[in-house]
This record gives sequence, C-alpha cells and structure tokens, in this order.
Amino acid sequence: MNPEYQDMFAPLTLKNGIELKNRLVMAPMTNSSSNNDGTVSDEEVDYYARRSKGVSMVITATTYVTPNGKGFPNQFAADRDAMIPSLSKLAKRIQGEGAKAILQIFHAGKMSPIDLVPDGDVVSASDVPADREGAAKPRTLREEEVEEIIEAFGETTRRAIEAGYDGVEIHGANGYLIQQFFSPHSNLREDKFGGSLEKRMTFPLAIIDKVQRVVKEHADESFIVGYRFSPEEPETPGITMDETLHFVDVLADKELDYLHVSLMDFFSKPRRGVEDLDKTRIAHLLETIGDRVPLIGVGSIYTAEDAKLAFNTGIPLLALGRELIIDPDWVQKVAEGREDEIVTEIDKEKQEELVVPGPLWNNIINTPGWFPGV
Ligand SMILES: Cc1cc2nc3c(=O)[nH]c(=O)nc-3n(C[C@H](O)[C@H](O)[C@H](O)COP(=O)(O)O)c2cc1C
Repeated sequence: MNPEYQDMFAPLTLKNGIELKNRLVMAPMTNSSSNNDGTVSDEEVDYYARRSKGVSMVITATTYVTPNGKGFPNQFAADRDAMIPSLSKLAKRIQGEGAKAILQIFHAGKMSPIDLVPDGDVVSASDVPADREGAAKPRTLREEEVEEIIEAFGETTRRAIEAGYDGVEIHGANGYLIQQFFSPHSNLREDKFGGSLEKRMTFPLAIIDKVQRVVKEHADESFIVGYRFSPEEPETPGITMDETLHFVDVLADKELDYLHVSLMDFFSKPRRGVEDLDKTRIAHLLETIGDRVPLIGVGSIYTAEDAKLAFNTGIPLLALGRELIIDPDWVQKVAEGREDEIVTEIDKEKQEELVVPGPLWNNIINTPGWFPGV
C-alpha cells in the first residue's frame, strides 16, 4: 500500500466497543430492484456481496417502517415480521464478505409516490407539498399517528436485530419524514412536534430514544445505531446550517455510535446561517461535534487522492456511494497499492461484470449528469 493512504485503513473502535476494520463504508443507495412482495431479490443480494469485501460497513438502501412510508418502487420492506428472512439473507451475504451490515430505516413522508402507499394517503408533518412538479398535498399526521410511526421505527429495529444485522442507521436526511419534522418549511405544527427549533427536534429525538430502548431490550451492546442528516434545505424558510449545528450538538450527546452527514460534495460550503461561509460544512460539523461521536463524511470521492484530502480534514469515516457502483474493487485497489487502476467513470458496457441489478442500471444510464460517464 502507498503509505500516503494507510491512515484510511486504520481500525476504528466505536463507542459500543465494536471495531471497524478500516475507515471506508458503503453509502446507502436505493436500487429499486427488490421483488414485488417487498423481499430482497437475488440480483440485489449479489450486487451487495460484490461491494462488501473492502469496506468496513455496508449501509443498505433505505427500507420503510410502515406501509405508508414506502418511497420507491421495488424498495425492499421491513414493515412486517414476514420480511425478517428476506432481511436476514441480505445481512448474511454482506457479513459473509467481511463487512458489518447496517440497515437504513426510514419513512418517506410526503416524498412517497401516491400510487405506492395504501389508499394514496400520503402523509407528512403538515400539509405542505414537496417542492417538485406534480407533488401531492400530504395529509397532516395526527398526534397519535406520529406516535405510531415512532413505535414502528422501534419495531423495524427489532426486526433488524432478529435478522442478524450489526446495526441500523436512522435516515433523517434527504427530505424524508424525519427531516420533514425538523424542517421549518415542512413542519407548521403547533403541538409538541412543531414550532421552535427545540420542538422540531422532538420527532427525531423520540425515534432515537425508541430505537435505543429496543436495542437495550433485544440486542447486546455491540449493536450499532447511527443517524443520518442533511445539513441544509434550499427553501426559505428551510433548515439552515446554524439550525443543523444546534441539532448536531444535541445529537452528539445521544450516545449514538456514529453520525452521518448526507452531501453530494464532501467539500461543499454552507449556503447561509453561519458567519464563516468559506469554511466547509464538514469543518463546521467537526468543530461542533469534537470527539464526542464519529462523523461519516461523503460526496463525490472518486480517487484515492480525493479520499486522502477528505481524511486530511480530520473526518474519522468516509462513505463511498456512486464510486463503489462504478468500481466495486476501489478499496482493495487502494489497499494493494493499485490506486492507479481505479475506474472513475461508469463503463456502460459492463453491467454484468459490475453486478448491478437491471432497474438500478437503467436509472443510471438514463439519467444524464448523475454518474460520471453518463
Ligand atoms: C443511486 C443512489 C441511491 C441513493 N439512495 C440513498 C438512500 O437510500 N439513502 C440515503 O441516505 N442516501 C441515498 N443516496 C445518497 C448517497 O448515500 C450519497 O450520499 C450520495 O450518492 C453522495 O455520495 P457519492 O458521491 O459517494 O455517491 C443515494 C444516492 C444514489 C446515487
């Protein structure tokens, strides 16, 4: 291995005592390739196995905790016990290749397509439609329904434990229900779940508490609980960097095993809300978090050099998303001093060799600008 890159292969021990073999993880990526009954497909399992050899943790595509939380066609399900064998199959293949298997859990809220949820009943914190063409006006969740969804995050965590996962990641990012509750754009509630910044934290914090209680009850302390968030929203009003730093300050004391920021560009800078707009979002976050909990950074890391520059910021863990689709051997190549052989653009002729399920492959090659090489 090139000594310049050896730090990213240093093990990291999480708060719960679990050792990660290196600092590189697979980012959660929805693949829309599960079976129609909500079970994971063989194609999908093979896709994960192909990418689980080098990284220390694989965070799965997000899965939904209630039927009305489904966000994508052919997304795999974790909203009922009947899905446990299917979930287990995926965990075992990931672990069989040497990585920890982390199940990402979510509720899509108003981002659910109307035809994917029972009775077309799309729900959210308030009745503010998503900022996209043709978005349905969601129905405001009643307080008791909010409590039921919090319970459902606990139930899905229990299923993840029974299915043999090493942990769960609570998906509070990318505009889905948890973020909708934290957002002043989406959450206009006047009950205990809305209003001030503190009150908008109530739903995410209640989910974390619930998940942690379930873990205490059903798993041993080695079970990992992570939390993912998006730092800013473009809308006004919308989540600002300043609000996120307040939130992250609270999250850092929640005894989570890691935090995970969702970014498309690791080195991106805040839009607004902090005095120093020249400092990257990651730098602001690391300053607030200190050494209380490890942060996973992510976003457009394609080469070993990109990763080195990212680690130079002090980030303890780095997630690779698109790059692991483009080159499933990225981590092994760096480990073996073959970083020059890393492929950084998708080769449109190599679906089979890259082991990418059909629906995901079609999304990639039909969406210009999304993946380098398309
Ligand atoms: C195909 C695809 C699907 C994604 N699905 C999810 C998801 O299910 N959950 C999530 O938190 N982020 C999801 N993301 C965001 C990624 O986790 C990651 O933050 C983003 O791709 C930037 O990292 P990258 O430049 O390494 O790809 C997805 C991204 C892609 C490209």
